[in-house]
Amino acid sequence: MLLSKEKIKDILNKNANGYPFIINIDVSKDELVDIANMIGNNNSKAGHFFTDKDTGSFTQVRHDGLFSNIEMGWHYAGTAYQDTKEVTEILYCKHPGSYGITSFCNTKSFYDSLGEEMQNIVKDIKVKISTDVMLGKKKPLFGNEVGIPISEDSEEYKFFNKTMEVWKPLVVKHPWNHSYSLNNFVPGMIEDWTYDKGNHGKFLWESILDNMFSHQYVYNHHWKKGDLIFYDQYSSLHKRTETKGNRVMYRFALDNKNIIDYVD
Ligand SMILES: [Fe+2]
Repeated sequence: MLLSKEKIKDILNKNANGYPFIINIDVSKDELVDIANMIGNNNSKAGHFFTDKDTGSFTQVRHDGLFSNIEMGWHYAGTAYQDTKEVTEILYCKHPGSYGITSFCNTKSFYDSLGEEMQNIVKDIKVKISTDVMLGKKKPLFGNEVGIPISEDSEEYKFFNKTMEVWKPLVVKHPWNHSYSLNNFVPGMIEDWTYDKGNHGKFLWESILDNMFSHQYVYNHHWKKGDLIFYDQYSSLHKRTETKGNRVMYRFALDNKNIIDYVD
């Protein structure tokens, strides 16, 4: 096995603290599936055009397929769902294409940096996440941040073109790390919140936007063939620029059912 169970546990704990884990490795599809199966079940959509045909067990994110080459704003796997099923997401770079940067934001470290008074304020806030905002049919509560603006003539549009609105706490508790993060601050998908909607609220919104998504908490990744990245859906957000060239990525979104003893 390329990665031992102990190594995987190390990676997942690093991820739970908001940090992506990155290696460069030459692996086959089957070896990737083996690694993923050690962690949990992949939320694969068998028979969908974006599911890998050879293994049937992961999503192909391609220049000519799912999410094609669009810019995608800050999000995590399952943003628009009430209950997040996936914990670990894995991306493997088969072909990087000629351009495309993926960014990871450590929303746990940012939350930890807030004073107790501010932590208590944000813990009380609920946000309304809406696919209409995500798709660009409606404007976000403040500003003009991008969600995931899939075009109406694309293959993937039919999978996402249903209005879903969920209210979630702005602050997210990690399932095993017992830590908190600002993971539901997805500015390109929020239609409403329970906090002030006037200037006072706008000031808080912009403070989070400017400080959390700053170089202190964000890592920008320039892909090379063979890059393998693990990251967490409760402690970090990710986004990507538009892409150019023939990019092919393999993506797993895992429920982490197969590793339950994360913390030593
Ligand atoms: Fe994503």
